[in-house]
Amino acid sequence: MQIRFADKRPEGDYALVLPVAGKDRSALNSLGDALNGVTATLDRQRFDGEAASAAELYFDDNGTHRRLIAVGTGSGAKAHETAEKLGGTAVARLLTSGETKAVIDVSGLGLDADASARLGLAAALRGWRYDRYRTKLKDKQKPTLEEVVVVGGGEGAEKRYADRWAPVYEGVSLTRELVTEPANIIYPVTFVERVRASLKDCGVEVEVLDRAAMEKLGMGALLGVAQGSIREARMLILKWNGGGQGGQPVAFVGKGVTFDTGGISIKPAAGMEAMKWDMGGAGAVAGAMKALALRKAKVNIVGICGLVENMPGGNAQRPGDVVTTMSGQTVEVINTDAEGRLVLADAVTYVQRNFKPSTIIDLATLTGAILISLGHEWAGLFSNDDDLAGKLQRAGEDSGDKLWRMPLAEPFDRLIDSPIADMKNVGPREGGSITAAQFIQRFIENGVKWAHVDMAGKAWSDKPSSTYDKGATGFGVRLLDEYVAEVLES
Ligand code: BES
Ligand code: MN
Ligand code: ZN
Repeated sequence: MQIRFADKRPEGDYALVLPVAGKDRSALNSLGDALNGVTATLDRQRFDGEAASAAELYFDDNGTHRRLIAVGTGSGAKAHETAEKLGGTAVARLLTSGETKAVIDVSGLGLDADASARLGLAAALRGWRYDRYRTKLKDKQKPTLEEVVVVGGGEGAEKRYADRWAPVYEGVSLTRELVTEPANIIYPVTFVERVRASLKDCGVEVEVLDRAAMEKLGMGALLGVAQGSIREARMLILKWNGGGQGGQPVAFVGKGVTFDTGGISIKPAAGMEAMKWDMGGAGAVAGAMKALALRKAKVNIVGICGLVENMPGGNAQRPGDVVTTMSGQTVEVINTDAEGRLVLADAVTYVQRNFKPSTIIDLATLTGAILISLGHEWAGLFSNDDDLAGKLQRAGEDSGDKLWRMPLAEPFDRLIDSPIADMKNVGPREGGSITAAQFIQRFIENGVKWAHVDMAGKAWSDKPSSTYDKGATGFGVRLLDEYVAEVLES
């Protein structure tokens, strides 16, 4: 789908989208002679202009029988939120409607260039689909919408979109694709290849560790998880050096469990297919690196994806096994289903030993317990640094990838002491997301600022929103991109 910007409505065939801010219907005045009829129809449909509501009707546009979508924008929300809801709602309505072109006329809304450009982003994001395996789609199920034209978005909207938000769309798309693909298609080796192909010509340096390399480095925790699978593990290292020489980089680290059966501590069958998206953290890291590279962000970032498949098998690790991590610390693996933290332990040690980052942000679909705490609206945020936590929460608010801070404290840490090793990989059921975070913190070295995002409730959605349909959300890409823009580039 193409996103364009224009000063006035084009000629010819298109569906017209107009915003209606609650009871304020002034944006409809441009309908001229058709205004009275349209107003009466909206009343009859009991359309009240509430945010993200929509009404659909036809009107006579100087002889053209034109489809009109009136989209409610409510009142009181921030301009960019209103803009994104408008763009997304319009596309959700029109994507498979038969219309090939939509004109969203925001003249009179007084949006600035950035908000208008974000309207374009939301429109593009809401139009994303992955139909590769749907060979029998009926014609009327197929998308028809090819072009969205934002009219009246003001000076600079087009450039702002190209410079800042089109790259973010590309990053989110990559993440959604990786998350959507099933685990027989995307596993550690193919994850690497898919990302490598997608980042070709972006200027991101790609390095890969195979099993032999990780064995040499002593990554016993990550390799212990991988050993039950015939799919070999990989560590993917993505380097973006947009900030020039010198200075410590910031590291993004993602959990990339390409399928999580639970291993010998096997998961129940019902719903296990969801565990194809247990690589959502790694997917977000890859997508964020793509977005940052495409928009040539002036920062040095290293992105790490710890990629494994967690399977039961003749060679799988057993409950009670003790593994030695790259840090030298030992772990008693009580539950093979608490595998994400084992992967992250070696990934964060690797990045600290090799890149000396000032700050590490890890993203992981780590615990079911975070869904019990926060449901599907907020991801959990854990951090050893209040300033970093505050900045990430801010980036979360501004990007829509919202974070709720959770506690870390010594009494929780004590719950993962082990009688046979330095620690065990699970604590009690209660506070399960916190003990998981405490586990990762044991691998964070002195002086390193660290934040952990538990996004188990956010990588996938069973219901559509204004920027995604059911399925992969691309959560995390916009969070990281916004953090870079607000904190590291300014
Ligand atoms: N990948 C899961 C967490 C998860 C659960 C993500 C549901 C998305 C939806 C993780 O590896 C896991 O299995 N965690 C266990 C930890 C437990 C064994 C301590 C869990 O949450 O049950
Ligand atoms: Mn698991
Ligand atoms: Zn998992």
